[in-house]
Amino acid sequence: MSQPRSEIVGVYPGTFDPITNGHLDLILRGSHIVDRLIVAVLRNEHKKPLFSVSERVEMLQEVVQGIPNVEVDSFDGLLVDYTAHQGATVILRGIRAISDYEYELQMALMNRRLAPDIETVFMMAGEAYSFISSRIVKEVIGLGGNIGGLVPPSVEARLRRRLLRPEP
Ligand code: PNS
Repeated sequence: MSQPRSEIVGVYPGTFDPITNGHLDLILRGSHIVDRLIVAVLRNEHKKPLFSVSERVEMLQEVVQGIPNVEVDSFDGLLVDYTAHQGATVILRGIRAISDYEYELQMALMNRRLAPDIETVFMMAGEAYSFISSRIVKEVIGLGGNIGGLVPPSVEARLRRRLLRPEP
C-alpha cells in the first residue's frame, strides 16, 4: 500500500536587493513544484545592500501576498542549517545564463556535501528576464533609465525614492 506523501517544503534563498520580476517569475513557478515555498533573505552585513533586510522582506511580502503557499523569512549562517531547521528538503535556485552555472554548481555541490538529504533544484529563468539582475536594475534606474516591467511597480517606486532626487 502506498504511503501518504509528506509535504515538500522548498527554500528559495537570495540577497533580493531588491526583488526583480525574474525572481518573481521563479517564485511563481517554484510555488507549483513544492507544497510550501519559503523565500529566504540572507542577512549579510558585508554586502552593503541598498535596502535593509527588513525592507527587502517587506518588499517581497508585498509582491507574494497573493500566492497562498509562499512565505517570506530571513536567515543567517549556513543555508543548509536554515533549510533543515525549516523542515525543507529542497533549495530552489534560478539560472539565467551559462555565467551563473559555475557559481551555482559550486554552491550546490558544497551544500550537498554539507547536507546530502537536501536537494538543490535549478529552474531556468524566464527568457524575458534572463538578462536582468538586481545590480543592473539599480544601476539603470540610478542613471535615469527606464526599468518598467523589470521589477514590480511597488519595488520601482521604492527604488525611485531611494536613488533619485525629487525633481526641483
Ligand atoms: O542572491 P544571491 O546573492 O546569489 O544568494 C546567495 C545565497 C544567499 C544563496 C548564498 O550566499 C548563501 O546561501 N549564503 C549563506 C551561507 C552559506 O550557506 N554558504 C555556503 C553555501 S556554498
